[in-house]
Amino acid sequence: MRTLVKYVLASTEPRADLLVKGWVRTRRDSKGFSFIEINDGSCLANLQVVVEAGTPGFELIQKFTTGASAVVQGDLVPSPGAGQKWELRARRIELVGEADATYPLQKKGHSLEFLRTIAHLRPRSNLFGAVFRTRSRLAFAVHQFFQERDFIYVHTPIITASDCEGAGELFRVTTLKGNIDEKPEADFFGRPTYLTVSGQLEGEAFACALSNIYTFGPTFRAENSNTARHAAEFWMIEPEMAFCDLEGDMALAEEFIKAMARFMLEHCTEDLSLFARFVDKEVPARLQFVVERPFQRISYAEAIQILQRSGRKFQFPPAYGENLQSEHERFLTEEHFKCPVTVFNYPRQIKPFYMRLNDDGQTVAAMDLLVPGIGEVIGGAQREERLEQLRDNLRFHGLREQDYWWYVDLRRYGTVPHAGFGVGFERLLMFLTGMGNIRDVIPFARTPGHAEF
Ligand code: 4AD
Ligand code: MG
Repeated sequence: MRTLVKYVLASTEPRADLLVKGWVRTRRDSKGFSFIEINDGSCLANLQVVVEAGTPGFELIQKFTTGASAVVQGDLVPSPGAGQKWELRARRIELVGEADATYPLQKKGHSLEFLRTIAHLRPRSNLFGAVFRTRSRLAFAVHQFFQERDFIYVHTPIITASDCEGAGELFRVTTLKGNIDEKPEADFFGRPTYLTVSGQLEGEAFACALSNIYTFGPTFRAENSNTARHAAEFWMIEPEMAFCDLEGDMALAEEFIKAMARFMLEHCTEDLSLFARFVDKEVPARLQFVVERPFQRISYAEAIQILQRSGRKFQFPPAYGENLQSEHERFLTEEHFKCPVTVFNYPRQIKPFYMRLNDDGQTVAAMDLLVPGIGEVIGGAQREERLEQLRDNLRFHGLREQDYWWYVDLRRYGTVPHAGFGVGFERLLMFLTGMGNIRDVIPFARTPGHAEF
């Protein structure tokens, strides 16, 4: 039975006859001995294997090069050398797959840009091993957070006919050839269909039956923004709560971010130490700060005032009625408040049709949670639950009621105040790890012009 390196290294006493499988990180030869560093991805650290000349398999020791795969059977003993507590004294080594000198991960210190061009091999580097282990653990933490609070996980469709955000950033899904707009009724689904930008609308249908639900799945946006925080395919977490208003929504969003930061500090310590060393030394302190301190909350109108009075020259001058730009979000979180900020009550015209119109008739019950270094990681709202008002919202945004008939129905039958939000999972990971580019927290990034791998 194979033992993962993380369990081998966590041993409290010597152990006889372990079987370890992994990839060679480095090998050093000295007189009568070779030292092989093996990594199997289960943790950041390598296991040092000591192979004495004459050990079965030693004949091929020159082929245990960086990148090769190997099986080692041996005894775990305290290591006399500096740098590791344990080492594995090999009884037998077996070369599984060779890697010749063209293996691209020969030395340390490759640039992130270069590593993106070998996305199939970069998980074998220390940094990307840490990133993707963290990604996996946090996905688990997300489920744990919602399951512990009695939220029900809903799998919303990936192929959809409705544009939730109304921003027209949809990828078309079709089996038609030639002019696909000529006869959309001849298409596979008998109508034009798209990859979903959000599971929210379907999520609302389930919240209006199961009370508290969440989705966690891939979403797709054909927005041509080549930035460090936009991907064409990304994962979103979308809780939706029946009998909930904007206050409750903002409270859950803040609690969620705090819980993720706490989880990171408690359960990802080894990988976090790598991020602190090689990515951003402020990360652990920032997470601690996020766990301990309350977040700021301000209205959109207050945010615009702060920006206008800041005396700061922005590329896009802040103006009431315009979207907050990334530079504005970063000013608020990084310079003005120096902490995460929830901005609420946005002008109606810059937000989607489903948001609830406030009593002022001008703003909607929207909220965005902004964090230092990233800007918006969460966008949400209290939903318009009033039938006539929802119809008015659809008209206001130039949408046809018939395209949203089932969504409107939810307001016809047992409507309730409800609210929810969407978390960009990759942006959350960027915040928690300090990684500066969304391309480096998703296994195989999809961005304009890039769908290799
Ligand atoms: O603010 P957004 O567009 O909100 C929605 O989609 C709502 N339907 C969510 C809801 O209320 N259920 O997107 C939510 C979050 C953003 O705050 C951002 O973190 C992330 O999704 N996001 C992206 N992440 C990576 N690449 C992109 N192109 C993204 N667009 C949005
Ligand atoms: Mg948004």
